[in-house]
Amino acid sequence: MTSNFEGVDLVTIRDFSRDQIEHVMNLAEKMIPIALGEERSDLLSSHLLGSLFFEPSTRTRLSFASAMARLGGITLGFDQPLGASIQKGETLADTIKMVDAYTDVIVLRHSAEGSARLAAHFAEKPIINAGDGAGQHPTQTILDLFTIRKAKGKIGDINVALVGDLKYGRTVHSLAEALALFGAKLMFVAPKTLQMPKETVRAVEKLGAKPAMLTTIEESLAEADIMYVTRIQKERFPDLAEYQKVSGEFKINNALLKDAKPELKIMHPLPRVDEIQAEVDSTDHALYFQQAFNGVPVRMAILSLILGAKS
Ligand code: CP
Repeated sequence: MTSNFEGVDLVTIRDFSRDQIEHVMNLAEKMIPIALGEERSDLLSSHLLGSLFFEPSTRTRLSFASAMARLGGITLGFDQPLGASIQKGETLADTIKMVDAYTDVIVLRHSAEGSARLAAHFAEKPIINAGDGAGQHPTQTILDLFTIRKAKGKIGDINVALVGDLKYGRTVHSLAEALALFGAKLMFVAPKTLQMPKETVRAVEKLGAKPAMLTTIEESLAEADIMYVTRIQKERFPDLAEYQKVSGEFKINNALLKDAKPELKIMHPLPRVDEIQAEVDSTDHALYFQQAFNGVPVRMAILSLILGAKS
């Protein structure tokens, strides 16, 4: 069923079926001229977005605000909790209840895994998870799938290497599940201590995937059609010494890419630190800035569908 998104929460990628994800991507494709500012729209002119970012963000926060503005809607909220009454001891639940009263849909980023699920419990309006700790980042996943589909013409039956911090990286948790749902072949490339959590491995296996567990980029290079690189999530390590052991271990540069397929595309949810060298940006492999732009049409589609706006 693709028809009814109105009022639904998007907390994990499992909240949308494959048909629904395809429906979002098809609508996002039509939204591109509006996202680029080439066409005007007032599709969401009567709507308010509550944008609550308790953790730093550039792409997710601004692309949601851009998506809302391009469709004539308004965004309220905060980009760091210092200016909010949470500083006076207000709970997340009470904060959500307030924003629920002021807006039509709430986008939440928070450091605590499960925070979006908690918010969905307290809110009557839809909650969109913009990243909950090391949990999931489902709108990033849909824009990643959209980017892959545009670059490769398909998502199933291609080789995708997920590289870097697979333990703490929330984007790869939701993306691995979605890729398995679409039938992509998966390689999980990470230092042993940062491999994909067992529950995600079990989830993708349940969907029929047989991920290869690798410890070096070189092992995945010849096969990969897409290499999805992630930052080591320094802020999630309980012990800085453990971070220092793995930091800088994976670096993509032009010398390494000589052994890749010429049509290999490199993606990254960004921000990057040093895992993709700047020299790669000007190669045909680099897809990460286009990927970041794709957040706008994809989030326009998600907001329109969840708000039940009719074009
Ligand atoms: N990809 C992503 O979530 O980026 P931000 O942290 O800048 O939002």
